[in-house]
Amino acid sequence: DAIILLGPPGAGKGTLAQQLRDERELQHVATGDVLREAVRAETPEGLEAKRYMDRGELVPDAVILRIIRRRMESDPADTTYLFDGFPRTVEQGRGLDRLMDELNGTIQAVLLLQIDGEKVVERLEGRRVCRACGAVYHVRNNPPSTEGVCDRCGGELIQRDDDRRETILHRLEVYREQTDPLRDYYRSRGILYEIEAGGTAGETFEEVQRAFGASP
Ligand code: AP5
Ligand code: ZN
Repeated sequence: DAIILLGPPGAGKGTLAQQLRDERELQHVATGDVLREAVRAETPEGLEAKRYMDRGELVPDAVILRIIRRRMESDPADTTYLFDGFPRTVEQGRGLDRLMDELNGTIQAVLLLQIDGEKVVERLEGRRVCRACGAVYHVRNNPPSTEGVCDRCGGELIQRDDDRRETILHRLEVYREQTDPLRDYYRSRGILYEIEAGGTAGETFEEVQRAFGASP
């Protein structure tokens, strides 16, 4: 089965995933993290992906679907995934439906995090991530207790290459053109939950709890 986190860059998908994971049994799969790991390891897939990521473009659907399929094949069939940043095109959405059919799984909910563009820029310019464990911070909104050091693992906090202003603006444009159509794709199936994500991380989390409560 799967729960999907949908929303523009900087909406807080990764932050919400961290909170949900702390309280439910979910396999968190963030395609962005998987790709950045492949870039670091300099695999052929990583080298191909890097060209797109640095420009704020989407990595080709075929590459993404291969990554997801591989992952699902190596996990128990009854795993519940928390997809973060996937699917990102209607084509990827269809691919996920096919994979779910093969596993007799269902998509339980799609949480759409809504936020406006200026807030996104502010959040992404101030974002810092742990090089070791991937935990997400913000220089003002969610600073670590020691500057530059991860609270969870002591790792070094760095800024992502694509968190530069021009690239952020381009990512937003790509989202509107290629990812936003997924909203109708899922709304028509009655599994879309629209979440106001412009408040604090705690407020967003509370809204999610309210929206889909104790289920699933
Ligand atoms: P990816 O890594 O998925 O990036 P993204 O979607 O652009 O999302 P972000 O990680 O930037 O934001 P987020 O919503 O997780 O926000 P976060 O919680 O960190 O993708 C990167 C690239 O990889 C893509 O451009 C593409 O090239 C490629 N890619 C990945 N998946 C792909 C796919 N499926 N298909 C094709 N290509 C793919 O929060 C942001 C900041 O705000 C943090 O600093 C956080 O501390 C802070 N913050 C969070 N919530 C709050 C709050 N409520 N109040 C105040 N601050 C907050
Ligand atoms: Zn860490």
